[in-house]
Amino acid sequence: MDSVIRMALIPGDGVGPEVMAEAEPLLDWIRARGRRLEVLRLPYGADHFLTTGETLPESVFQDLRDGCDAILFGAVGDPRVPDGRHAEEILLRLRQGLDLTVNFRPCRPLPGVGQAGLHIEVFRENTEGPYGLQGSTEPGRAVDMAVHTEPAVRRLLEAAFAGAAARGCALTLAHKANVLKHGHGLWVRVFQELCAAHPQVPARGMHADILLCALVQDPRSFGVIAADNYLGDLISDLTAAFAGGMGTAPSLSWAPHRPFRCAALAEPVHGSAPDIAGSGLANPVGMILSTALLFRHLGWKPEAQAVEGAVAEAIGRGMKTRDLGGSLSTADMGTAIRSHLPR
Ligand code: NAD
Ligand code: IPM
Ligand code: MN
Repeated sequence: MDSVIRMALIPGDGVGPEVMAEAEPLLDWIRARGRRLEVLRLPYGADHFLTTGETLPESVFQDLRDGCDAILFGAVGDPRVPDGRHAEEILLRLRQGLDLTVNFRPCRPLPGVGQAGLHIEVFRENTEGPYGLQGSTEPGRAVDMAVHTEPAVRRLLEAAFAGAAARGCALTLAHKANVLKHGHGLWVRVFQELCAAHPQVPARGMHADILLCALVQDPRSFGVIAADNYLGDLISDLTAAFAGGMGTAPSLSWAPHRPFRCAALAEPVHGSAPDIAGSGLANPVGMILSTALLFRHLGWKPEAQAVEGAVAEAIGRGMKTRDLGGSLSTADMGTAIRSHLPR
């Protein structure tokens, strides 16, 4: 019999709890189908920080790391915490502390939404680059250091090559090694090594600036895009636009080398959307598709496919939130999707 999966839920801020409320019933549904899952709900986010002064306590981080298998995350970010300290100490701490090197952000437009027929997958390094948060601010001078290490670069690129090989599609590395000679120079060197080891994958490196131009002009020529943390963040918001916008884009982060028990975190690409929080306007599709990515990662493939199918079915029948031109509330959209799930 499968062992019990322990999954932590961190809804976070803004629309995070609203979209999480539409993903949570999928956990009851999957349990009713016989999957063994234990859920742990955690309160961390801006409200908790502003009330208690706590972001993510170290003991909780360690419990997650060693006592959970996966995390389902909503979003963090709150105008009441302008320096984003809690977002850093919760979300970036989890990505970096769990060594979740690979952040997978697929773009597969849903029926009648965005640009039909695209299938682009962004593999974004998730722990390094300028997100290492080393730097300083002095009078008249500010420094953000970007550190890239070979093990993380290699892990990310190996995952991207594996993804492209599995799909039989092209792989493009986004870089600016013409300027960032050290950091992106390392990316290009490891990339070239892996190109030689995977001759069956059509692979090319592109300067990220011209890549963005080509991506807008001819998105169908892209299959898998690999990028460092910063470029991958930017590129994946652009690919989200091809699929209808921020409300629909899912992501999954994982640690291919499995350094800890907790080796996966699913979250939508979007943030806490303070402009629409509390108004029932958030699209739960990005969150629900992220949950499906996590199901597949945990080996629950039929359920992952069923959730993705239910989303496509609902959207295909015109059930949409306002961002996609519809008028359903977050909760009604969640209900519409669930009505297409098998019992
Ligand atoms: P955002 O993604 O929160 O919002 C950008 C735009 O997209 C807004 O107009 C918003 O209304 C819209 N949008 C986002 N999610 C939507 C959804 N589910 N349905 C419909 N529309 C949606 O990005 P932002 O405004 O740059 O950032 C707001 C806060 O979120 C900031 O504090 C930022 O740091 C944080 N943030 C967090 C994450 C995360 O937790 N992973 C990601 C991005 C931004
Ligand atoms: C994302 C977000 C985060 C990032 C922020 C909130 C730290 O934009 O998940 O894409 O830049 O990684
Ligand atoms: Mn982003």
